[in-house]
Parts: sequence; structure tokens; C-alpha cells
Amino acid sequence: MTDTGSVPKSNPSVLEIWGRSSLKGHVTISGAKNSALAIMAGALLCPDDCRLRNVPSLVDIGRMGQVLAAVGVKLERQGNILDINARHLNQSKAPYEIVNQLRASFFVIGSLLARLGAAQVPLPGGCAIGARPVDLHVRGLQALGAEVQIEHGMVHAYVRGNGRRLKGAKIYLDYPSVGATETLMMAATLAEGETILENAAQEPEVVDLANFCNAMGAKIRGAGTNTIIISGVPSLHSVDYSIIPDRIETGTFLVAGAITHSELTLSPVVPDHITAAIAKLQDIGMRVIQEAPDCLRIIPTGIIRATDIETLPYPGFPTDMQAPFMALLTLSDGDSVITETVFENRLGHVPELNRMGADIRIKGNNAIVRGVPLLSGAPVVATDLRASAALILAALAADGKTTIQGLHHLDRGYEKLEAKLQKLGARLQRVSDHSPIKAPSVTQSPVNS
Ligand code: EPU
Repeated sequence: MTDTGSVPKSNPSVLEIWGRSSLKGHVTISGAKNSALAIMAGALLCPDDCRLRNVPSLVDIGRMGQVLAAVGVKLERQGNILDINARHLNQSKAPYEIVNQLRASFFVIGSLLARLGAAQVPLPGGCAIGARPVDLHVRGLQALGAEVQIEHGMVHAYVRGNGRRLKGAKIYLDYPSVGATETLMMAATLAEGETILENAAQEPEVVDLANFCNAMGAKIRGAGTNTIIISGVPSLHSVDYSIIPDRIETGTFLVAGAITHSELTLSPVVPDHITAAIAKLQDIGMRVIQEAPDCLRIIPTGIIRATDIETLPYPGFPTDMQAPFMALLTLSDGDSVITETVFENRLGHVPELNRMGADIRIKGNNAIVRGVPLLSGAPVVATDLRASAALILAALAADGKTTIQGLHHLDRGYEKLEAKLQKLGARLQRVSDHSPIKAPSVTQSPVNS
């Protein structure tokens, strides 16, 4: 058994990729990072054993484990099984040194407050992809009866009276924020009375968190729609729960097949979770076939057609797939417009793709991608997690060698990506960085989960 409080080592190495290789075979998709992170925060709600299965081994998961350990939770990990016991939750303050490295760890504020009637969690701050405020989380907690003060970068939340129990309320979210929906759903699970969350996020990870809470005895209805109703219960019980497959990893491998003109199969997947991405791949000219309820096959047709993409909250096209699809469209037969509406600064991969011979111009939150016949390998720097995936995809198709720096982003969110690609026949290796090229300052930005 190993303690999950430890963070897998992320070293300052670079990834060398030799392009124009053809891939072939099957990819096993890991558990969803963003589900696992929210569900780990949700495990604080339960004073009993929680066994989580299909938890990916990632730097972000290790960091979330450190936050839980810091508030008194016991964690044990064996392979992809993570056992969490929050019986002796004894500390309402989450440590700044970790929260500032993992934005998602702010989400513990909801479950800490529900269990202890108090929570002190540092403001996570901005990151490489945007300012990312937490005002919706805070306003929702206030609606549930919490007193909230923000001082010296710390959010102090308390429940006074009523046995320190939050009170159900009707909450309208100005924007269907994934994190705010999750924080408030967790907080409301143990509140007195009914909470109605309107304009809630509908992402599959929200549904996974609701299913996890319900498996512990919570009463949550409507997750996956824009209205979630939570009837508070006094306490929750032990659970054994399996995390859903990662839809963004699924989409990334579908693009790997498309950009290298290779036929691949992927499982386990939930095809319904990536309907928007599959529809775009079909527009672009790919055939995507559902071979079994949990298995997809991508069959390239030799065509990469230009298409326009606008990122939106689920079930719209996911912002986390924007960078990988941009890599694909750099090789299309025409002009595409990609509009990023979810985050204000998520086009950091554009100059790096252009270094590889792409022809992309940015106008506001639009990237105008003019297709080129071939990319050429170059030294590039990953600016965030999904940018790192985009550069790897571009490198797989490019002529010659690409060297990618900034791998700490990649290690946060894709389990064994290199090994999975190698198994498909890609030529890539991680080596120590002897390059004189320095990463631009944006790569120093700590978090983007
Ligand atoms: N927002 C606010 N106020 C808030 C909360 C959000 O203005 O209180 C804004 C954000 O600044 C952003 C927009 O709302 O512009 C959407 O943010 P949201 O809260 O929905 O995102 P999140 O919960 O912070 C999660 C994922 C992200 C993913 C987004 C959108 C986790 C841990 N992270 O972030 O994943 O991009 O939802 O789907 O679930 C990634 O995996 O690479 C990643 C960044």
C-alpha cells in the first residue's frame, strides 16, 4: 500500500517526438481526472470508508490527496483503487501551498463546511487559462446560510446556530460553472431541507459526483439537467464507487487517430459523453463507429475538412478539447474559426503551433486557422494541460522531430500518455532537458484544473 498524499514526481525533462508515424491498435482509457478530483472532495462528507476505483495516477490526484491528508483524512492507494476515510476530519483549514497548485482543491470548501460547520480555504488565484474567480461558489454558500469573509487571500466560511448545519435554499447560478455546481451540491447534501440549484452545470463529472453522493445515501435529483434538487440528509455512509472514463482523454485519442490518419479503438468510454466531439470529427471527415456500448473505433478517410468550433458548457463542445481540435484543423483543407467562450486566456498553444508551421491568427477570443499541408517538428513549450496534448498531437503528424517543454502540465492530467502512444506505434521519448531554450513565463503558472 502506498500513501496517496504523495505527488508522483514530475521532472524537468522534455518530450521528443518523431512525427509522420502511423498508429494502430487499442487504447485503454483511464478514469476521469475531473470526476476523481470532485469525488475525492465529496468523500469528506462521509465519516465512513469510501473506496474509489478507476482513479487515475496523476500529479493532480496526488495533490488533492495532500489537501485531504492535511485536514485529517486517511488515504491509502493501491493501483487505481483509492481508500479514503474522513472519520477523524479535524482541521477546517486547507493549506495554501497545495491549494495554490491545484485549483480544484478549492472545491473542498463545500464538504468541509457541511461536515464541520467551518472551512478556511485559500483563494486559488488565476492560472494559465484565465482569472477563474470563485464568486459563484461563495455566493451560493452564503445563500445556504454560511457567513463568508475573505481576508488576506483566505476564504473563511462559518455556519452559526442551527447545530452548525447549512440550510437548503434556491440558488440561481449566473453561469453554469462546473466547480460551483459541485461545491454547492456537496454543501447541500448534508444541509437541512431542500436546495434547488438552477442553471447548474450538466457535465458528466457533475453527474458522477451526484451518483457517488447518492451511493452514500444522499438525495440528489436532476444531475445532468440544468436544475438539481438536493434534499439534505443528516449523514452519509460507506461506499464502493467506480469513476467514469475520462471523456477528454477519449477525445484526445480520437484526434490522435484523426491527425495521423490511423484507425484506433478506444475503451472503456461513454460515447454519450463526447457527442459534440464525435459530431465535429464527423464534420471533419472521420468515421467514428460505436463497436460496443463502451467501445469506439475511429476510421480516417484521408480527408481533414475545415470546420468552425465554439466552446460551450456541456453538452456543447468542451473547452478542454479546443486545443487538441485546433491541432487537427491546422492540417485541414480550408479555413476554420475556433471560438473560445469558457476561459478568457486559453489560446496559449497558438504561437507554439505556429512555430510548427501552422497558420493561425488570433482575433479576440477567435482563432482563425488556415489549413496547411504539413507541419514541421520544432522545439515548443506547453502552456497548459490541454495545450500540451495539442502539441503532442501536432508533433505526431509533423515532419521531423518536435521537442516539447513544460511537461509538468501534461503530468497533471493524462495518465501514462507516452506509454499509451508508444503502444500504438508512436515514436517518442522523455529525456533530460539540456536545451538552452527557456520556457516563457506563462508556463510558470501553477494550475489549471
Ligand atoms: N467562473 C466564474 N466564477 C466562479 C466560477 C467560475 O466566473 O465562481 C467562470 C470561470 O472563470 C470560467 C467559467 O466560469 O471562465 C467556467 O468555469 P467552471 O467553474 O465551469 O470551470 P472549473 O470548475 O473551474 C472545470 C474543470 C476544467 C474545465 C472546466 C469547464 C475541474 C477540476 N476542472 O473547471 O478542466 O475546463 O470545468 O469544463 O473539474 C482541465 O481539465 O484541463 C480543466 C481546466
